[in-house]
Amino acid sequence: DWNPGNVIADQVAAIRAQVGTGRVLCALSGGVDSAVAAALVHKAVGDQLVCVLVDHGLLREGEREQVENDYVDSIGVRLITVDAREQFLSALDGVTDPEQKRKIIGREFIRTFERAQAELVAEAAAEGDPIRFLVQGTLYPDVVESGGGAGTANIKSHHNVGGLPDDVEFELVEPLRTLFKDEVRAIGRELGVPEVIVSRQPFPGPGLGIRIVGAVTAERLAILRQADLIVRQELTGAGLDQDIWQCPVVLLADVRSVGVQGDGRTYGHPIVLRPVSSEDAMTADWTRLPYDLLARISNRITNEVADVNRVVLDVTSKPPGTIEWE
Ligand code: XMP
Repeated sequence: DWNPGNVIADQVAAIRAQVGTGRVLCALSGGVDSAVAAALVHKAVGDQLVCVLVDHGLLREGEREQVENDYVDSIGVRLITVDAREQFLSALDGVTDPEQKRKIIGREFIRTFERAQAELVAEAAAEGDPIRFLVQGTLYPDVVESGGGAGTANIKSHHNVGGLPDDVEFELVEPLRTLFKDEVRAIGRELGVPEVIVSRQPFPGPGLGIRIVGAVTAERLAILRQADLIVRQELTGAGLDQDIWQCPVVLLADVRSVGVQGDGRTYGHPIVLRPVSSEDAMTADWTRLPYDLLARISNRITNEVADVNRVVLDVTSKPPGTIEWE
């Protein structure tokens, strides 16, 4: 019978056998997989593990803090946060093409992580104890999708930020390689990973960068972050987190429409709600959220978020529409 305790015990033994007294590095993204993989490795080898969180400025409200505070407190891992917000903003300056955004974000992520990695590796080497291992939160479906090759550092490059270049000479530690997502969640809970992280809905690696239709700026990110927080608060408050697959919130930064507020005319941006139901993100249907909930979300966003004067609902299934707008 499958049971999280047994899997944890097996994996802890396997990790210890693989890394011995070696030092291990792990990039945390705020997502479930990297968080659970790191928690497992930490259980196995404690402070031989160092985690790195790259803050690219495209995270949602509170996500960095969830990792820095809740996660670190409950798991006890050593974490280094690299604040790369300015770097990403200037790399994305004026870029509107979605694939171009993805490329830039992926490239900057790798650069940033490699810089942190190089520093840590040099530090460890100076102490005569080099870092030789890298944790990856690869799941079984990823293994199947990429042809099932043995643990190389050539991560599926399609659209996962966090992929590493081919020439990294690390041995990979992949404690989730035989597991499905729901099993990873069960193990995470057993290890004490905070529920906000364990039950997190999918969120794209390029983050809010691909939820601003138009160029990414600090001001637009602030607007979107605020609207997204309202949507998440209301969905959670309505008890609907388990019923929807994910709900992208999109800022149409290059669109303006006329509105009226108080006794003045406004000329602001629309926010799109994209709640979807899905099994695997390959196909999806738009979720029929209760009208009262939609009304509350709309009222709150237009009242609380500056520069937004309209909220619209995306009622397109996938296909033909993708889940994300970019
Ligand atoms: P689409 O928009 O293709 O999204 O219907 C399917 C699923 O993939 C997520 N997604 C991404 N995840 N990097 C990611 O890590 C990306 O560039 C990316 N684009 C889409 C999306 O959120 C949905 O869950």
